[in-house]
Amino acid sequence: MAETYEGAVDRGLEGVVACTTGVSSIVDATLCYRGFTIEDLAEHSSYEEVVFILWNDRQPTAAELSAFSKTLRDSQALPASLVNTLKSLPTKEIHPMAWLRTATSLLALYDDQAQNDDEQSRKSVALRLTAKMGTLVALFERVRQGKEPIAPKVEQSLAWNFLYMMTGKEPDTAFVKVLDTCLILHADHELNCSAFASRVTASSLSDIYSAIVSALGALKGPLHGGANEQVMLMLKDIKTVDAAKEWIKQALANKEKVMGFGHRVYKNGDPRAKILRGMSKELCEKAGMPHWYEMSKVIDDTVQSEKGLLPNVDFYSATVYYSMGIPIDLYTPIFAFSRVSGWLAHVFEQFANNRIYRPRGKWVGKENQKWKPLA
Ligand code: ACO
Repeated sequence: MAETYEGAVDRGLEGVVACTTGVSSIVDATLCYRGFTIEDLAEHSSYEEVVFILWNDRQPTAAELSAFSKTLRDSQALPASLVNTLKSLPTKEIHPMAWLRTATSLLALYDDQAQNDDEQSRKSVALRLTAKMGTLVALFERVRQGKEPIAPKVEQSLAWNFLYMMTGKEPDTAFVKVLDTCLILHADHELNCSAFASRVTASSLSDIYSAIVSALGALKGPLHGGANEQVMLMLKDIKTVDAAKEWIKQALANKEKVMGFGHRVYKNGDPRAKILRGMSKELCEKAGMPHWYEMSKVIDDTVQSEKGLLPNVDFYSATVYYSMGIPIDLYTPIFAFSRVSGWLAHVFEQFANNRIYRPRGKWVGKENQKWKPLA
């Protein structure tokens, strides 16, 4: 007879506290990284500083930040032999998240510390992975356009270099600031699906690359990081501001999910969405495409009034990236470019207080089956 599990949880582990964490916290509509509110960091910090805070549980001194940023910037370039291998991978009809997952796994084969389990090696691996993630995404874009890869400029930030390596042009300072803020906003988010995936893999004492590849696979899905791309595709499908309200009402009547809305934890709004909404309005107007923001606002109001759901981080980030001319299918890879820092903070936290994740499944299948010889 199968065991019964009193209080066995239903689907999705809703409300289950799976571990303790000091990386980031969500309390009502307040998100903090290491105790710093996301609003404070978005306004005053840089992505490089946020990575330092996530990994060290404190703000750096000016000298520490300068040294840390330099190490990150110096680590952005990819080994030439890896670039050659990556150039030979298919890119047509390939989703960039699938390519990025494979490229990250390949990167491990070019990192002679990838399998080391001492603290120092793991820290070096984390630095390299964080520095190179944006380079990989930009490389994908160059390769699929049939263009030569562009090497990063070590004196420039990760955000600057991403835009530079993707387009081949020195980026506009305002766009660099916008992307840097987006990287800050996406860097971590408590025990979300991909962070949990990274921790589960790390809990078997596997290597860091394996943990990050697990996380990339989880982030790719449309219910998680893949939603930002789906939001922009939806806006393109709706086409006009006037059509938005009816389109959404119809989708809800058909029991479809409106991408970029709802959240398992936030019930009073996602603070990142509020910041991104302001950015979307400004950028869409500046880019001469205010209709994308206006359409988003109609959708936001309609989903709230019809369903009581609020936008999450993915909703307004779509129009922010679109107004900057970033290809739609790169939105989720950009999420990964940022979130790798949070995953790594979780992986280190897991290693520091590890016990393998091994939950149980409540048996609901057949019983007493007997094997018979096949005729
Ligand atoms: N559009 C329409 N209805 C929705 C939406 C939505 N976006 N989100 C939730 N609902 C409805 C569900 O249909 C369900 O309604 P019902 O009770 O009438 O059946 C109810 O709200 C609860 O929804 P669940 O899917 O059970 O909520 P859960 O907590 O499991 O999922 C999630 C959260 C995945 C974010 C969900 O809201 C969703 O699918 N949203 C759209 C995808 C999305 O934007 N994902 C990005 C999330 S942020 C991130 O991961 C970076």
